[in-house]
Amino acid sequence: MNKRYIYILAKILPKQIRSLIKRFYNPVIPGISKMDYGEISMSKESLNLMLDKLYEVLKNNIKGDLIEFGVYKGGSIIQFAKVLKELNSNKLIYGLDTFEGLPPETKGKDDVPFFYKGSMDYNNINKLKKVLVKNNVGNKIVLIKGLFKDTIPKLPKELNFCYAYVDCDMYEGTKQALEYLIPRMNKNGIIFIDDISSKSFVGVKKAVYEYLNSKEVKEEYDVAYWVKI
Ligand SMILES: C[S@@+](CC[C@H](N)C(=O)[O-])C[C@H]1O[C@@H](n2cnc3c(N)ncnc32)[C@H](O)[C@@H]1O
Repeated sequence: MNKRYIYILAKILPKQIRSLIKRFYNPVIPGISKMDYGEISMSKESLNLMLDKLYEVLKNNIKGDLIEFGVYKGGSIIQFAKVLKELNSNKLIYGLDTFEGLPPETKGKDDVPFFYKGSMDYNNINKLKKVLVKNNVGNKIVLIKGLFKDTIPKLPKELNFCYAYVDCDMYEGTKQALEYLIPRMNKNGIIFIDDISSKSFVGVKKAVYEYLNSKEVKEEYDVAYWVKI
């Protein structure tokens, strides 16, 4: 069947049926538009790796706060905040996103597949804030709405980080995030980048290896990570 029809069908089908089909046939289905607030999108293996490293960073008392570039409906940021709560950490997590989907000016470019463009447009920062409160992590997360290129320059100048997650699917956003983060990560702090081996989001890998030394980057499951030395 033509891929375009598969994606249209995938958007119409209820989640349970999609999950069942995915066991036997699993092209990249844009189920992301149907995800609920707080729902986790990454694989279990990637999440476990990222949380293990977060515990390590916190137990080793690496200085600085946390930051996520690409929050969407909060799937990953809530998990990070729960760890901060559990360990009674007074660190904060800054979460940057348009909360209105991928940047419009990138829609003509081809580093995101056609079926994915627009799939995250219907997001609502106020709903997300309520979900954060419901999860008891409202006071751990600072959400910042807008394009990275506009919000990064407005971040407090003194910010520095122990842990960062870049999950924005695109070359431009990944590049802007890494340019900002590299000098602001503290020693032994970690930057994770999602979709490193994605065949759909090819711009991510390009940006990662333009900005980070390939000898210092580790790729595991769907993510890459880099530790500041
Ligand atoms: C895959 S989602 C993030 C998923 C989230 N980390 C999770 O695990 O649930 C990618 C997000 O990046 C945001 N994004 C991509 N490029 C951006 C940019 N240049 N400025 C602001 N937000 C951007 C999109 O709005 C989208 O919500």
